[in-house]
This record gives sequence, structure tokens and C-alpha cells, in this order.
Amino acid sequence: MKIGRTLVSEEEIQQRLVEMGAEITADYEGKDLLLVAVLKGAFMVMADLARNIALPVEIDFMAVSSYGAATQTSGVVRILKDLDQEIAGRHVLIVEDIIDSGLTLDYLRRNLEVREPASLEIATLLLKSGLQRVPIDVRYTGFEIPPEFVIGYGLDLVGKYRNLPYIAVMEEE
Ligand code: IMP
Ligand code: MG
Repeated sequence: MKIGRTLVSEEEIQQRLVEMGAEITADYEGKDLLLVAVLKGAFMVMADLARNIALPVEIDFMAVSSYGAATQTSGVVRILKDLDQEIAGRHVLIVEDIIDSGLTLDYLRRNLEVREPASLEIATLLLKSGLQRVPIDVRYTGFEIPPEFVIGYGLDLVGKYRNLPYIAVMEEE
């Protein structure tokens, strides 16, 4: 496999994150906002999106691994690293890299909702169209992309390519 055509360029990503950051800034003005990213994939969108939010936000990270077949999300998730803080009464925005089946995020949302945050919303850079096995209510979406396997900007293929500043598809040699 090798890096194929670019699906979303570095410029497009950065431009969209400026827009999303402005929207989030307006929506959470005067509120105490906690950004929560899911490692490892969302590390880059967290770093860039956070810099476009003109509010005194706090950030935190979770690490999860899904049980079951390696190639497919089972929706059964094990928390490897939980949040460092309580979120009761706080405004929480989950920052994601990509939503595919939506199963991981659906689990995560239900897990966090039990802790009774003041609000719980989702921002994702990428949304694969037509693939959600569970309906996910996404507040902020960067780009809708076709159901292809993509890499770059945090997204990996067996651990590699996360450091690319753009999103590309993989193709056969
Ligand atoms: P799902 O929404 O539960 O199916 O799983 C989403 C997770 O699977 C994402 O957070 C990514 O880590 C991973 N994932 C889904 N689609 C892709 C892709 O095209 N490239 C790389 N990772 C992906
Ligand atoms: Mg992820």
C-alpha cells in the first residue's frame, strides 16, 4: 500500500478549523468549556482546533481500545485512560478525528453522560457519509467524506502516517 490521492489538503483542513473554532467560540462564550479528545487519532485536530477557540478552555484526553475483531469496531470499548477530572456540571465537547460506524463514540457519549455534564456535544473533523450504524448527533462537522479508508492528520494505518498534515486515501502499489 502507498499514499494515494489527497482527499483534504492541509490548507482546507486549517481553513475549516478556523471556521469551526469561531463557531465554537460564539456558542460557548461565557461558559466553562472542557475539550475532550480521544487518543491517539484526535491529537492533531485537538491541537489545531483548540488554537482556534478564543476562550479559556481546558483540555483533557481519554484513551480507549475496542474489543472484538481487529478490523471492525465492535462498539464494546475498554477505557485505557480516563479523564483526569470530574465533569459534573461542566460543558464538555468531545473532539474526534473521524466518525465511521459511530459505535465507539456512541459508547463514549453514554459513558460520559452518566457523569452528568451540563452539556455534551461532539466535534469531528471527518464524518464518513452513510456509514453510521448508530445515529450520532454531531454538533460540529469538518468534512463529510466518502466511505474510503483514509490516513494522515492523526489517522493511522497500523500506527503509521499520523504525522501527515493532510488527509489522503491509501492505494495499492
Ligand atoms: P467507529 O466510528 O466506532 O467505527 O470508529 C471510529 C474509529 O476508527 C476512529 O476514531 C478511528 O480511530 C478509526 N477509523 C475509522 N475510519 C478510519 C479511517 O478511514 N482511517 C483510519 N482510522 C479510521
Ligand atoms: Mg479515533
